[in-house]
Amino acid sequence: MTAARPWTIRTATLDDVEAFEAVRISTWKACFRGIVSDEFLDGLRLPRHRIQRCRDVIEDSEGSAVFVACAGDRFIGMGMAEQVSDASLESHIGEVRALYVHPDWQGRGVGRALLGALTMALRDRGYRAAVLWTLRDLTSTRRFYEATGWTFDGAEDTHDWHGLVHLVRYARDLTESA
Ligand SMILES: CC(C)(COP(=O)(O)OP(=O)(O)OC[C@H]1O[C@@H](n2cnc3c(N)ncnc32)[C@H](O)[C@@H]1OP(=O)(O)O)[C@@H](O)C(=O)NCCC(=O)NCCS
Repeated sequence: MTAARPWTIRTATLDDVEAFEAVRISTWKACFRGIVSDEFLDGLRLPRHRIQRCRDVIEDSEGSAVFVACAGDRFIGMGMAEQVSDASLESHIGEVRALYVHPDWQGRGVGRALLGALTMALRDRGYRAAVLWTLRDLTSTRRFYEATGWTFDGAEDTHDWHGLVHLVRYARDLTESA
């Protein structure tokens, strides 16, 4: 008999928004240190505009999808996907905009399950391909995406977050089975 998972994934509601953003911040602080500057990470707070943006995405259920992973009453992960933000890409392309698993829960299948839910939701909403951006130097996360069917598509970008941070784009076809 297979043991039941100690966590579940469900669609996010407006009541989840603050916990959702808190998982994002704690994961950034724990996992991006050494790649993103300490000054930037130590200054991360829950900004009102991000909370509002998250609310807007949750309310747009036709084009977007937001999921949370919970273990009992604890929020342990979150993911968000919507239409691609890069206007040079076609509108039938979706984008995974956020995927974070709390450090205490990484490596137990939560990220794979969240990413699977996001790609399925994008496919159900009519998107035929998906992209996502991740940190160029975050080898563990790049390996995770490569293990879950994503491929580096050659696009790169930089952000100045109190120091230059390099990003790389991954893509996957949604017309083939997951
Ligand atoms: C990246 C992240 C979402 C992955 O979630 P996770 O719950 O730790 O990953 P999972 O346990 O679901 O792993 C899924 C698969 O990827 C593989 N994998 C995970 N991390 C890996 C790594 N570092 N190297 C190789 N494979 C890896 C696992 O072996 C697993 O394969 P399997 O299902 O065949 O056993 C999570 O670790 C995280 O939040 N990291 C920090 C934040 C981040 O980088 N987010 C992405 C921003 S774009």
